[in-house]
Formats: sequence, C-alpha cells, structure tokens
Amino acid sequence: MNILLIGSGGREHALARAIKASPLCSRLVTAPGNPGTAQFGTNAAIDVADHEAVMALCRREAIEFVIVGPEAPLVAGLVDDLTAAGLKAFGPSRAAAQLEGSKAFTKELAREFDIPTAAFARFTEPAAAKAYIRQQGAPIVVKADGLAAGKGVVVAETVKEAESAVDSMLGGSLGQAGSEVVVEECLVGEEASFFALCDGTNAVPLGTAQDHKRVHDGDRGPNTGGMGAYSPAPVLTPELEQEVMDTIIRPTLAGMRSRGTPFTGILYAGLMMTADGPKLIEYNTRFGDPEAQVILPRMRTDIVAAMIAAADGVLDEVRISWSDFAAVTVVMAAKGYPGAVEKGSVIRGVEDAERDELVTVYHAGTALRGSDLVANGGRVLTVTALAPTIREAQQNAYAAVRVIDWPEGFYRSDIGWRAIDRGA
Ligand code: AMP
Ligand code: GLY
Repeated sequence: MNILLIGSGGREHALARAIKASPLCSRLVTAPGNPGTAQFGTNAAIDVADHEAVMALCRREAIEFVIVGPEAPLVAGLVDDLTAAGLKAFGPSRAAAQLEGSKAFTKELAREFDIPTAAFARFTEPAAAKAYIRQQGAPIVVKADGLAAGKGVVVAETVKEAESAVDSMLGGSLGQAGSEVVVEECLVGEEASFFALCDGTNAVPLGTAQDHKRVHDGDRGPNTGGMGAYSPAPVLTPELEQEVMDTIIRPTLAGMRSRGTPFTGILYAGLMMTADGPKLIEYNTRFGDPEAQVILPRMRTDIVAAMIAAADGVLDEVRISWSDFAAVTVVMAAKGYPGAVEKGSVIRGVEDAERDELVTVYHAGTALRGSDLVANGGRVLTVTALAPTIREAQQNAYAAVRVIDWPEGFYRSDIGWRAIDRGA
C-alpha cells in the first residue's frame, strides 16, 4: 500500500525506516520529511497544518494509509479530517489527543477513573493558585495546561519559585497554553516512559525507555526535547509493566471509551516510579522523539501491520515481539540548544559512522545544501547503536558519534548512566 507519514524529525526518520521495511509498504511519502526520510521514499514539501493540502497530497499520491508522527497535527484534528474524507489514518482523534493537549483533561480523567497520579488543583486566577501553593508548601510543580513544547513545567523548590511560575504562565508568557495552570504534588522517584499501542478498546505494550531531558551531563541545565534515550528501561521490570497496564493504561482506555472518545494510537505514559508504585506524570499521544529511535530498531513485529490493526480495532490479534538487544541513542545538537542556534554548518562523516551495521544515524534537523549535509535545527542528529547490553550500546553509539565531524555540534557524554549504574 501507499503510505503517507507526517512529520520531519528523528522520530519520523526512524518511523520511515521501519515502515519501508514492511512488506505491506509499496511506496512511502513523508510530509514534510527530512533528508533521512528521503532515503526511504519521497518527501512532499507541504504545510501539514493545512489539512486540505494533506488531503490533496493523498489524492495525488493515491495514499491508502496515513501515519501521524508529531502531536500538533493530532491536537489540530488531522486524523478526524482524514477519516471524514474516507482515508485510513493512524493516531488519535482531536478529542482523544486531549490526553496530551490538556494536562487538566488528563488529571480529571485520572481522578475520575482512579488512575494513580500526583494530587492536583486547577487555576485560572493567580491569587487562588498562590494561596494553594502556600498552603501545600514546596517542592511543588506548576504546569501550563496546554502544549508548550517542553517549556510548560516548573518543578519549584521554593514557594517563591512556584508563585513566580504562576505569575509568568497566567500572565501570558506561554500564550494560550498557559491560560490555565495545574498545580500538583511533587512526586519522588525514578522516571520512565511506557508505550502502548491502542485500538480504542485493546492495548498492547510497545516498549519502555528512559530519556535525558536536561541539556548537560549529570542531568543538569535547562530542559530540552530530549538529549538521548535508551530502551528497554531496566527500572520497569515485567511485574511493574503489568502493573502499569492494569492500573494506568487499561483504565485510561476504558475511561476514554466510556466518555465516547476512544483512544486509538500510541499512548506514551511518562511515569514516576514512586515508593507507592508507578504513578502517571503525563501522557503523550504519539511516539517520543528520541524514544522512537531506540524502540523501533528493537521491534521485530511489522509496525505497519500493527498500526493497521490498531486503526481497524483488531489489536487483540496482535502480539509485539522484540530483539534481545538494547538500544542507546545520543542526540547531537547545535551549540546553543535549547536556546537560539545557528543553522547551516556542514556535517561530515555520517556514512563512516554508520559503517557498523548496528549503528544508525537518524536525521532530526538537517538539510541538504548541494551535496553537503547541513544543520537545520536545534536537535540535528540522533545516533543509535544496538548491542546485547546498554553498556555496550552506549560505547558503540559514542564511538559512532566521535566519527561524525561537526565542530558546531555538541552532545551529552553520559546517556544511559542510570541503567548502566544498575548493571544493564
Ligand atoms: P514534561 O515537560 O511535561 O515532560 O515534564 C517535564 C518534567 O517535569 C517531567 O519529565 C518530570 O521530570 C517533571 N515533573 C512533571 N510533573 C512532576 C511531578 N508531579 N512531580 C515531579 N516531577 C514532575
Ligand atoms: N522525548 C520526549 C518527547 O518526545 O516528548
């Protein structure tokens, strides 16, 4: 079948590679795509926020199945519009994407269906939010309700810091996304990510990962979209995975269904492994980036067949099988990230870095200028290695990173440290 993939990051490069490996895929078009996705088909330079343009592309290219990578088009209702036009699409509806699009929505769902999560309250008035913060004390967490590209969460160590986060968010620093805030209990524990493939009724586990959100070694510095990741996450033992399915994922699916907005797509649960068991921090409604770059290379099951089964509501017939190997990915970012970066510096050595057949260099923010590969964003490359252990995968990923000649870039040198400390 002819498949359209929506998105342009490292996640979409990893998806494109997995999709093209499926015997079900005859032709792949990615919109807008990047030089990495172009290795597996064609890129279509359209604005994916323009749903009419996406539908025109589908007609022109005789597309039979659309896979949506990032959150923005999901929250904007692209899947609803495609479905209404008679096209098969993978991903949640606009209503179901509220699980990512609104933190207050997810917290209310958790409250209604007894899903373990941090205690919380919602505010639109600064005075009321600050009174609650003073009553609760610090540490405490302040979150903008809407999508804020990773800038919407402040884990405040002091009441003063929490109060100023409230002033800033409700004062409009994040635009509409911060017009309501959620103030919540600060959870303590190790974080892990759990992925489930969902068809509205059924869910199957789709792997575990841990990422490194802070920009500097030792998990210091400002938050980013993710500086690296590894999979599986050793902290999520098979018993804990079962507990997450039973106490978090299945009640979420049942709750969304009972509200008349069943969830189809990838449910990505950000979890805190607390002394009282796993608790939900937040949901995303798609693969993570760079988590996709460590999960998809480990997947043995045909991703296209699994996504079609999810879109068709017949996931009960699917089991996902995995490679025994672990994966580590290291993000190479442009100097200055997560702040302002310069575009256009030349990157050399990607082919040499991929000489090890267990290494893949994913394009996250690149462009071609003539025959040169150049940086074209904050996160530019993600370098994944597969190996029997996380320690070996880490060594091989860094060996490949060192082969890449890009003086304008930087990377963290400790991706995977938590798992390696555990002996993984
Ligand atoms: P997000 O940008 O929404 O992925 O959240 C950023 C980070 O904030 C999470 O990965 C956690 O490290 C932290 N965080 C969010 N909520 C809480 C919470 N209730 N307790 C402790 N840390 C939290
Ligand atoms: N790496 C975090 C995310 O994709 O949201």
